[in-house]
Amino acid sequence: MRTITVVGARPQFVKAAVLSPVLARFGVADSIVHTGQHYDWNMSDVFFDELEIPKPAYTLGVGSASQGVQTGEMMCRLEPIITKEQPDWVIVYGDTNTTLAAALVAAKLSVPIAHVEAGCRSFDRTMPEEVNRVLTDHVSTFLFAPTEVAASNLYAEGIRHGVHVVGDVTIDLANATAQRLPAVPEILGRFGLRRGGYAFVTIHRANTATDVIAFERIVGALRKLGMPVLFAAHPRVRPMLDALGAGVPGDPLIVTDPLSYVETIAVIKSARVMITDSGGIQKEAAVLGVPCVTLRTSTEWIETVRSGWNVLAGSDPSAIVSLAHRPPPDTPLPYISDGRTAERMVSALVGSLSLMGNIA
Ligand code: UD1
Repeated sequence: MRTITVVGARPQFVKAAVLSPVLARFGVADSIVHTGQHYDWNMSDVFFDELEIPKPAYTLGVGSASQGVQTGEMMCRLEPIITKEQPDWVIVYGDTNTTLAAALVAAKLSVPIAHVEAGCRSFDRTMPEEVNRVLTDHVSTFLFAPTEVAASNLYAEGIRHGVHVVGDVTIDLANATAQRLPAVPEILGRFGLRRGGYAFVTIHRANTATDVIAFERIVGALRKLGMPVLFAAHPRVRPMLDALGAGVPGDPLIVTDPLSYVETIAVIKSARVMITDSGGIQKEAAVLGVPCVTLRTSTEWIETVRSGWNVLAGSDPSAIVSLAHRPPPDTPLPYISDGRTAERMVSALVGSLSLMGNIA
């Protein structure tokens, strides 16, 4: 069996890192295609090195552009590869423009698509990611849903076939990584932080990162938290942080470049509170037992909110400050994992092929 895995942005590298060795163990010949959506060393290469992801067979070098240009350029460069390789499956991850571009190309070439993290919905179509999720799910053959909620979202949209509730590879990896973290005091020491005594912040979503007023309100709130704030800055928000004087001596904000996956898990795990607009980090905070404040008004990870471990604050400064100081809830963590999500996915893929072989 031959598959093509299409990745391009940070969260996809993390998910591919879990699936890739399992595909190899099942004897599947997988070729990785990297669209180049993320290209800086600390947005891309560091994940391949640290998580030992096989080198991409193809790198498309698409880079940054507007939503339509980036997606379209990826499609132009992907089509000849999928046409030439004729894989049994194209595997796509999550909700980025890379996900949608690969799904559209594969669908038009009649190559079956396996969508990892299918069925997640924020019900906010102003987010490019929500558009990517919905469209990708509607052209996928296998929809690997992380939760029953995700599966029920698909059912509500009329998708009844190919839905497999398998678990969540990011939760499996966060759990496994948290159990064997390298020297955490050394990582915290680099930033002058102590365990349980700081807020960890990431912001990158288009809605927040392009709204200067909302961004300024959020930074103002972070400065009022009364604790050190480690801000791992996505390149698109760095100029705004610099313009606001973030990280100058005396500022509670400690600004750093994007962190590697293992560093991120270490820094979340030891934080007093996580403050983010990321989807994946909302889950990781919940897995690691750290209260989270999400800088959005909707989330596709509703279990984190229902359990009390996550709250939605939008960009409202007073809500951010008060919710950041709430005590950890005494409710159970919302996600459990047996570490076998990838095995369930690959078994389903391999099983589908033998079934097709038997029918033929
Ligand atoms: C993308 C995904 C988002 C995902 C995130 C993970 C879409 C629509 N968004 O958001 O779902 O959560 O990745 O991090 O696909 N840039 C660099 N260097 C890089 C990459 C980006 O400087 O290596 C800058 C460029 O100015 C670029 C901007 O960041 O225009 C945005 O990058 P882009 O990939 O479009 O979106 P993300 O915000 O990273």
